[in-house]
Amino acid sequence: MNGLPTVLDVDTGIDDALALLLALRSPELEIVGASCVAGNVMLDQVVRNTLGVLAVAGAHRVPVAAGARRPLLRRLTTATFFHGEDGIGGVALPAASREPLAEPAPAFLCRLAREFGGRLNVVAVGPLTNVALACVLDSSFAARLERLVVMGGAATVPGNVTPVAEANFYNDPEAARIVFESGARLTMVGLDVTMRALFEAQRYHLLRDVIAAGQDPVARFAWAVLDRYLKADLAAGLTGSPLHDPLAVAALVRPELLTCRALHVEIETGGRLSAGQSVANVNGLVERLESRGDHDDVVGLDRPPPNCDVALVVDSTAFIDLFCERLGLSVSPRQHTQ
Ligand code: BDR
Ligand code: CA
Repeated sequence: MNGLPTVLDVDTGIDDALALLLALRSPELEIVGASCVAGNVMLDQVVRNTLGVLAVAGAHRVPVAAGARRPLLRRLTTATFFHGEDGIGGVALPAASREPLAEPAPAFLCRLAREFGGRLNVVAVGPLTNVALACVLDSSFAARLERLVVMGGAATVPGNVTPVAEANFYNDPEAARIVFESGARLTMVGLDVTMRALFEAQRYHLLRDVIAAGQDPVARFAWAVLDRYLKADLAAGLTGSPLHDPLAVAALVRPELLTCRALHVEIETGGRLSAGQSVANVNGLVERLESRGDHDDVVGLDRPPPNCDVALVVDSTAFIDLFCERLGLSVSPRQHTQ
């Protein structure tokens, strides 16, 4: 095995599909499994999509495990406006020629973490329900991981579901909280960087001839799903589609594309307006309180220990170049000037 052993936990979804393809086409990684969680669409559809996307890339042997059908405590919110009723913008996938494993995703994650003895990486790009359940199932799971990259949250920018919450954390705040308190070596790839990693509509249109002339099934599929994604994002006032989940994969493939800061991050689970908010302590200080009978008094300042490397800056040009090169979506300079 040459690349970093890596599992993707997905709620496939258009950008999840693109993340799977980027991972499979990156020799820096060895994809040893995919675990599915309900999110962008319902779980059975996520499993179908994941098996189909793996088939598009010829990855017929990557094991797929089905996991949580709903968040730990809350009602699921799907996102067909962005991803289409089937989660992949109505693009045809090869018929599934195999079933997912009988083993549930949380148990699958725990088993791989044990088998890879401290070398396993997990890139979680859906609600964190499966990962939280793995933490609960095996108290040594989080510590066994080499790294856990999470696409989710917003440390210094607004949310994309509520004014403060990002979709994956909004969908299962309790799970996100368990994961952030798990002690895992965590990288948070949130909206701070993914909203700057746009696949521009202009580039998409330039690719039409490249795709029509090419035979690469991965490039054709990626181009077709981006169509739906772009329509929704243009309607939302953007100039392109944020490649949220592929950027989380890039955090392992090319860590130097992201500049991270070690911060203490807590996930809000209580507030009516703020559930799912990732509260990053950018100042690095908390007040120490002591009770004075009928009130509390500030008696000092503490430094909460960082629990997460939070990505705050991205080299978006280099990332989009990497994404396009790996997925066969590169426009030659000659085509560019035509
Ligand atoms: C995240 O939410 C989902 O809709 C996307 O697949 C991505 O993982 C972005 O907020
Ligand atoms: Ca996702």
